Amino acid sequence: MDDARVGALVAAAREVRHRAYAPYSRFAIGAAVLAGDRMFAGVNVENASLPLSMCAERDAIAAMVAAGERSLDAVAIVADSPSPTSPCGGCRQVIWEFGPSALVIAETVQGERAAWPIEDLLPAPFELERP
Ligand code: THU
Repeated sequence: MDDARVGALVAAAREVRHRAYAPYSRFAIGAAVLAGDRMFAGVNVENASLPLSMCAERDAIAAMVAAGERSLDAVAIVADSPSPTSPCGGCRQVIWEFGPSALVIAETVQGERAAWPIEDLLPAPFELERP
């Protein structure tokens, strides 16, 4: 994937991050997914009943699916962490569902970047045959 597309995707994740609802963890995350030429953004949305909280990556993917897209090429994640934040295990499985060859890019607020193919982050995904 070319640098300009990756840069635009990371910028979208960076821009949406300030809308995160994270009063409990105070760990705001912005995410953006690329589906062809279209980008979809999401933030983490927490709840007083903590297990009901949603991750930014899965919110971005839900927006993508609601818009009619089912195939993602890349996911960008921006967080205010000492090193780039890779997606949690559950998000890795959901990223894989829609992008088994996706590139995952994580950047800190300060601009340190890391990137991995999803197959490196989730080498043995759970698969279920579709009836
Ligand atoms: N979080 C995400 O948004 N994405 C991840 O991949 C890991 C964790 C959120 C959930 C919670 O709101 C906060 O980060 C702290 O766990």
